[in-house]
Amino acid sequence: MSGLAPWLIRSLTQDDVAVFQPLRLEALRLHPEAFGASVEEELMEGSGRMIGAHPSLTLGAFADGVLIGSAGLQVPVRVKQRHRGNLFGIFVTPAWRGRGVGRAMLEGLLAHARDAGLRHVTLSVTSGNAAARALYRHSGFLTIGVEPDSLVIDGTAYDEERMALRLTGYVTGATANPH
Ligand SMILES: CC(C)(COP(=O)(O)OP(=O)(O)OC[C@H]1O[C@@H](n2cnc3c(N)ncnc32)[C@H](O)[C@@H]1OP(=O)(O)O)[C@@H](O)C(=O)NCCC(=O)NCCS
Repeated sequence: MSGLAPWLIRSLTQDDVAVFQPLRLEALRLHPEAFGASVEEELMEGSGRMIGAHPSLTLGAFADGVLIGSAGLQVPVRVKQRHRGNLFGIFVTPAWRGRGVGRAMLEGLLAHARDAGLRHVTLSVTSGNAAARALYRHSGFLTIGVEPDSLVIDGTAYDEERMALRLTGYVTGATANPH
């Protein structure tokens, strides 16, 4: 593809919550098996309140000023866990899929993770989600385990794969503290 992409990716802030929540609800309604939250929980809790909580980051993709996709990286605040991030909520509205928006948001989050000095990024993906699995695998994520029946929706169970991408080398606990 030549020229500039017809979309723009930027960090979302609390000022974007009003446009973020409809997209989030669209994601949960279209793909209940791809996300841990339900529509009812989103309406009650509103995941938009987490937006802009540095060093966590939520990216939004905009086309002609309209939000067409979003993706988040959550970084724990706890001292023993803040070296890692968890990718969540990646969604591109159907009309814009297959044009590189998902990959661009993922790469943006991984660049942020590297800049923040994170050691690895993890995520969970429903085992049958071919598009998302391919996106993650092509970006270097490896499957580190499968949780059977991780989600149950209306009596149907779904396995989830846990995937991880290592960003820096490790000093393992055993090496760092052999005694
Ligand atoms: C997963 C999702 C975010 C991908 O977004 P997208 O903008 O369509 O993805 P891209 O165009 O950037 O494609 C990136 C890569 O994803 C993979 N991919 C995308 N769509 C695919 C499909 N239909 N089948 C197989 N692989 C696919 C490919 O590896 C692709 O790279 P390639 O074009 O070089 O082969 C989008 O399909 C989506 O919103 N799905 C529903 C929500 C969801 O399942 N989220 C994931 C929760 S874990």
